[in-house]
Amino acid sequence: MKSSSIVLASRPTGVPTSDNFRAVESDIRQPEQGEVALRVLFLSLDPYMRGRMSEAKSYAKPVPVGGIMEGETVCEVTLSRHPDFQTGDIVRAMTGWCTHATLDAQRVRRVNTHGAPVSTALGVLGMPGFTAYSGMKVIGQPRKGETVVVAAASGPVGSLVGQLAKLAGARAVGIAGGSDKCAYVKNELGFDAVVDHRSQNFASELEGVCTKGIDVYFENVGGHVWDAVLPLLNQYARVPVCGLIAQYNGPGQSDHDRLPATMSAVLRRSLLLRGFINTEFLGAHYESFQQEIGPLVASGEIKFREDIVDGLRNAPEAFIGMLSGSNFGKLLIRVAE
Ligand SMILES: NC(=O)c1ccc[n+]([C@@H]2O[C@H](COP(=O)([O-])OP(=O)(O)OC[C@H]3O[C@@H](n4cnc5c(N)ncnc54)[C@H](OP(=O)(O)O)[C@@H]3O)[C@@H](O)[C@H]2O)c1
Repeated sequence: MKSSSIVLASRPTGVPTSDNFRAVESDIRQPEQGEVALRVLFLSLDPYMRGRMSEAKSYAKPVPVGGIMEGETVCEVTLSRHPDFQTGDIVRAMTGWCTHATLDAQRVRRVNTHGAPVSTALGVLGMPGFTAYSGMKVIGQPRKGETVVVAAASGPVGSLVGQLAKLAGARAVGIAGGSDKCAYVKNELGFDAVVDHRSQNFASELEGVCTKGIDVYFENVGGHVWDAVLPLLNQYARVPVCGLIAQYNGPGQSDHDRLPATMSAVLRRSLLLRGFINTEFLGAHYESFQQEIGPLVASGEIKFREDIVDGLRNAPEAFIGMLSGSNFGKLLIRVAE
């Protein structure tokens, strides 16, 4: 038996292309004592992976050229040489972009999705969901009657941010790209308002639905969305800085120096801008996330959407598309049935 993997063939300059990836095959290693053999079912594709393709210093090490692309997966245990796991168990692990892996059992976590599909362990009940939950709980802290704005609102982070705002009694305003995503955010997710960031009148449309300003802006994108949000932030507004996807491929043509306007607003309106990586909050908040959000997802009270692409070989194209918004919901690769 062979395992297929996708490795980083070369480092991209700007937008990645399929040439930056290469498919390779290798033998599947039998597990030794304390290890488990895994068959990958779902691979999560996430924006952070763009950072791992670059050499630039960041909060995590880059993937070496020739190394397997990093990524979290949901897997089935096919053989266990550890007493805590049996054949057939469903687990999650950082196997990378591959079909099979053999890992130390300590690097594997059992999946508990409270009856929701196991794929949710990579989305609303996984890392992206926890990011939304912890960023809102620790930094955003929405209160009744406040206005919360989030972009990439149809994605796994943004969709939960808005629904958490609603649960806290706040008003949720989403920003999304295109009419289908906007309709979903308003009609299915139940946000109070939504604005299309591709609209020519985006900034004035955002102002039109934030008549009392913005109290919490959950920053997922940066770029032109930040330009439109900044003038609307109220005094003491909180800004959990979660992601800046607009700049992951490098500066865009319409980019300009945003620092003077941002710092001036921070000073004059006493804004709180706080960057975070979700792992910072795992110890303090992961258990409460599972206990609070798991049952709400399983009961259907919290909604989510998955965009599932079949076949590991299609991962590079799906990933490249996500960076410009071609995904609609949590992007997953179904590696095996
Ligand atoms: N800090 C952390 O620990 C942490 C953890 C997880 C994720 N994140 C960050 O959270 C953000 C959302 O992640 P996700 O997994 O939920 O992604 P996602 O929504 O599934 O996918 C990214 C979305 O970003 C939007 N987008 C891309 N380029 C844009 C641009 N130039 N302007 C405006 N929107 C743009 C697109 O949606 P539209 O078509 O709607 O524009 C795209 O679908 C990302 O920035 C990610 O890096 C941070």
